[in-house]
Amino acid sequence: MTATPKQVFDSVERTQESFEPMTETTRAVTMDKIAALSKRRGIVYPGSDIYGGLANTWDYGPLGAELKRNVKNLWWSTFVHRRRNIVGLDAGILMHPRVWEASGHVQNFNDPLVDCKTCRSRFRADHLIEERLGQKAEGKSPTEMSAILREANLRCPNCGNPTLTDARQFNMMFRTMIGPLEETGTEVFLRPETAQAMFVQYKNVVATGRVKVPFGIAQIGKAFRNEITPGNFIFRLLEFEQMEIEYFVKPEEGDSAFEAWLSDMRGWLRMIGVGEDHVRIREHDRDELSHYSSRTVDFEYEFPGSMGWRELYGLANRTDFDLGQHQQFSGEDLTYFDQAEDRRYLPHVIEPTFGVDRTCLVLLIDAYDEEQTVDVNGKPDTRVVLRLHPRVAPYKAAILPLMKKPELAEVARRLFDRLGEEIEVLVDYDESGNIGRRYRRQDEVGTPFCITVDFDSLEDHSVTVRHRDDMRQERLRIADVPEWLAEQLR
Ligand code: GAP
Repeated sequence: MTATPKQVFDSVERTQESFEPMTETTRAVTMDKIAALSKRRGIVYPGSDIYGGLANTWDYGPLGAELKRNVKNLWWSTFVHRRRNIVGLDAGILMHPRVWEASGHVQNFNDPLVDCKTCRSRFRADHLIEERLGQKAEGKSPTEMSAILREANLRCPNCGNPTLTDARQFNMMFRTMIGPLEETGTEVFLRPETAQAMFVQYKNVVATGRVKVPFGIAQIGKAFRNEITPGNFIFRLLEFEQMEIEYFVKPEEGDSAFEAWLSDMRGWLRMIGVGEDHVRIREHDRDELSHYSSRTVDFEYEFPGSMGWRELYGLANRTDFDLGQHQQFSGEDLTYFDQAEDRRYLPHVIEPTFGVDRTCLVLLIDAYDEEQTVDVNGKPDTRVVLRLHPRVAPYKAAILPLMKKPELAEVARRLFDRLGEEIEVLVDYDESGNIGRRYRRQDEVGTPFCITVDFDSLEDHSVTVRHRDDMRQERLRIADVPEWLAEQLR
């Protein structure tokens, strides 16, 4: 069965949002523009840049670090602080190697790999079959994939020679050693998902966390995968962050909890301001399901250019697979005693999983816009603007004294300090250069409001607030600005 992807917000009631509507009509965005803007404005830099870079590693710069932090804080407050039955966990990256045997990762966390004997390029066999031959590769074994590639006489996409090897399984977990000597050390893995710690610590949380089924454990943290074909900027990384919830329910309540989470995940996307036009949900076919899942739905985003629809988030029904496996491998009783029903069972688990880096990437892409305007000299000009939701924007406002004069700086600095103290948000302060250019710089990094202190401010104790999205300007009393800004961010 191939399910038809469905627009994600179809069945969700539209709500009145307080933020400005998107004005985008055509998509000006490309991945190259996002990568260039990110580097230019300190959002994301190539990793180890001064050493020539290390392929497929990226570092978040000053504004990227703020964007990422905003995403994680918002997620944590939405799903942990504001839910009475979800508690947090912050586990280590290194875990007992048996964890990964029990979870099935040692056995199953493989990608089918093909090498070119001539140019030594590496490819994923399933990607070659899908992208070069237009056939389905899901659920096929390496032997079946090799047969398809051989029959099609596929040449190496890099050098063009008919020298591709057969497909073989390649485990994607990174390995390292604990101990001073490699020969005597213990081999451990860098976790490929944050999820397993939530299963491994489930018994401690039940014993100490005052939780009752249904309840969830949430975690935000790094995960590592030795991807064969990383790339597309920060879409597929070797090292990335996940925000995951393992939601423990009665065995018979998995289906209804799954539907509830589907709706909550849609709500999250709307809350961070991701436009509904480029999001859809896709049900996994049976032969595509991970080894632990009885049902999986992907939230897909339509990336620009040749990337097209790709996974943004996932929602899986992991049944009692993980608790059952850890019970067997650890020898610990992981059943739950349900006092209200006077029965014991292994809870089933619904898992909503969100990639932090993909969230940041989608926010940047979705927010990117170009507007044709005229510059101060009346010449045609392009305004690049990131229409980020104020909740996630790195700077919530920028304070711009009209000119670099001590009397303006004094008023502006006082307002800057008040905003920091009273509403504790990050505000930029910029007094250098032409005001038009300063506005454009703030537009490019998604600052929703520019607050200009001019000579009139000294007399009327007011400032001009310029709105990023429509460049509308209004005059506000300085005394009212903190309360007004807090209201805009709510
Ligand atoms: N615990 C389930 C799990 O890990 P997954 O679909 O493999 O499921 C969850 O990963 C999410 O993590 C994905 O939806 C994606 O957002 C993010 N993710 C996975 N692999 C990634 C990679 N190589 N680079 C960046 N993000 C990745």
